[in-house]
Amino acid sequence: MAAYYNEHDRFAAAWLRELIKAGHIAQPTAAKPLTIVDLGCGHAYLTFAAHQYLRGQGMAVKVIGIDVRTSARDRNNEIAKQLGISSSIEFRAEEIADTTLTSADIAIALHACDTATDDAIAWAINSDAKLALIAPCCHHDIQAQMNEIPQPWSIITRNGIMKERLGDLLTDGLRMQIMKLRGYRVEAIEFIGGEHTPRNLMIRAVKTGASADAAEKQRYDEMLALWKVKPALATLIKG
Ligand SMILES: C[S@@+](CC[C@H](N)C(=O)[O-])C[C@H]1O[C@@H](n2cnc3c(N)ncnc32)[C@H](O)[C@@H]1O
Repeated sequence: MAAYYNEHDRFAAAWLRELIKAGHIAQPTAAKPLTIVDLGCGHAYLTFAAHQYLRGQGMAVKVIGIDVRTSARDRNNEIAKQLGISSSIEFRAEEIADTTLTSADIAIALHACDTATDDAIAWAINSDAKLALIAPCCHHDIQAQMNEIPQPWSIITRNGIMKERLGDLLTDGLRMQIMKLRGYRVEAIEFIGGEHTPRNLMIRAVKTGASADAAEKQRYDEMLALWKVKPALATLIKG
């Protein structure tokens, strides 16, 4: 478990340094630290690891962990207090969709359950987060809508496990396309070896502000029409 988070943390930190160097995000200062929100932080292994690692690199950071469970907030704030780091890391017990946090440079969400991942991506888009690192968890939203299978796709979907995996890919592909249409440069990467978790796809997105061309919007619309689905994320985006 420790290797899982340490490996992930090192990876994210290297990527972050490159993005700061490239000017996608302002160089953090003591007066204006890099702000990171971990949406659906749970026991906050990643949240604390990111905070400690970046601080160890000499980077000024302010980290906020959001989780709906009050027990997680209380436990995590107590740990922060014991470590003497409460001024730069804090935890709130809130629904992602209703969080009182209004902005952050970076939004991360690691295995937030089902459509909580959509809430996290929507928060990132609506709050104009410059970077988003999203590792989805279970996918039920699109799978539940895959009732009218366009042919010849039934050669795959007639097998339950393959229908489920195709549903996962459709969900994440549509999430990424929505982010692309909202000015993010988006990639899907395998962020950790499959021996640690099968949920090892990460959507990483950098806000460039580049507007996607009409063909991209058309592809998105065609995909929804073909599969007769409406992604949860599409209903959560403002504007
Ligand atoms: C599978 S755990 C992952 C926790 C942590 N990110 C990790 O990787 O160790 C999912 C967490 O998301 C939280 N969660 C689920 N839905 C949420 C929501 N709508 N708003 C806030 N937190 C949520 C749960 O309470 C749980 O702690």
